[in-house]
Amino acid sequence: MSIPSIMRALQQTTRNGPQDLRLIDNAAVPTPGPGEVLIRVAFAGINFADTMQTRGTYYNGPEAPYIAGLEAAGEIVALGEGVSGLELGARVIGAGYGAFAEYMVVPAAAVVPVPAGWGDEQVLGVIINWATALAALKPLGRLAAGETVLIHAAAGGLGQAAVKMAKHYGATVIATASPGKHETVRALGADHVIDYRNLDVTAEVLRLTGGKGADLVLESVGGDTFGASLAAAKRVTGRVVVFGAASGEAAVTNWELIFKQQIHIIGLHISELIASAPEIFGELMTELFALMDAGVYTPVQPTVYDLADGSKALADLEARATVGKLALRP
Ligand SMILES: NC(=O)c1ccc[n+]([C@@H]2O[C@H](COP(=O)([O-])OP(=O)(O)OC[C@H]3O[C@@H](n4cnc5c(N)ncnc54)[C@H](OP(=O)(O)O)[C@@H]3O)[C@@H](O)[C@H]2O)c1
Repeated sequence: MSIPSIMRALQQTTRNGPQDLRLIDNAAVPTPGPGEVLIRVAFAGINFADTMQTRGTYYNGPEAPYIAGLEAAGEIVALGEGVSGLELGARVIGAGYGAFAEYMVVPAAAVVPVPAGWGDEQVLGVIINWATALAALKPLGRLAAGETVLIHAAAGGLGQAAVKMAKHYGATVIATASPGKHETVRALGADHVIDYRNLDVTAEVLRLTGGKGADLVLESVGGDTFGASLAAAKRVTGRVVVFGAASGEAAVTNWELIFKQQIHIIGLHISELIASAPEIFGELMTELFALMDAGVYTPVQPTVYDLADGSKALADLEARATVGKLALRP
């Protein structure tokens, strides 16, 4: 099948947020360079990072105007020089830049096959949501069976993955979510769900853990919630893995770590993990495919928007109006 020279894509034109994510029909179809492949996008995954990028708050994010989107699943339609082990026609999911488009280039090293029997949309999130959640729980968070983990934004794309895996690994899960999302989180197996928009999270976690605090906290919210996360972690042995700032920046001082919060704070960014610790990323992907075989990681059913509605999809995500994974269909 021939590849056109121009395509439909969503272009972010300012730093003013999702409102300035515009559909264009004359974006250049990218050419795969050495070590890259071209994917015809069947579905693009939407991530919270996409909303941050539209406001210029994502560190080292692209400068407007840019084609938005960070992950897509579809068919390989062209191979760059030197690519081996991947074939034209293979269905893959990959992470890179420019996913909200009909075609996207990704590094061959950053693609993963769509499992047999899964739809392209059903595997969205494996690299960004599931791998990040697993990294936070296991190699970085060192979760052990019988421990208690506090998972924020548990109804979200990443949060749902984290709850499922934490239960599989034998943890007690205390989740937080907006009030309208609690049934979703309970259905995933969470033991307790806290309305963190109206309740004191620290007090609730201390009450539920007999005053000890959580062994592990997955901290993706920041803002005022960050302080509550630190205070809710068990003194001396508690770990807080920090990987998101949906509510904005938050700080902790050396004085506080010595005299108030004697805990372990661990930073996580999945791109840096892939670049600096590829062996850990390899182990994460091996474990995720084992979780698929074991039926723990089952096909995800995202809420699908048309490409033309991308601006609305990102605005909904930013407004906390969504549950689970979101996708765009070009
Ligand atoms: N470091 C990494 O490598 C990495 C990788 C992937 C994701 N992340 C982070 O993980 C988090 C989850 O990502 P996701 O893509 O799966 O998004 P998501 O969880 O589907 O959506 C974000 C959720 O965060 C909650 N939230 C809390 N405060 C918020 C605020 N002020 N504004 C908007 N939402 C707020 C909302 O849930 P409630 O309504 O229930 O509060 C919202 O639905 C994000 O913080 C993201 O940046 C980091």
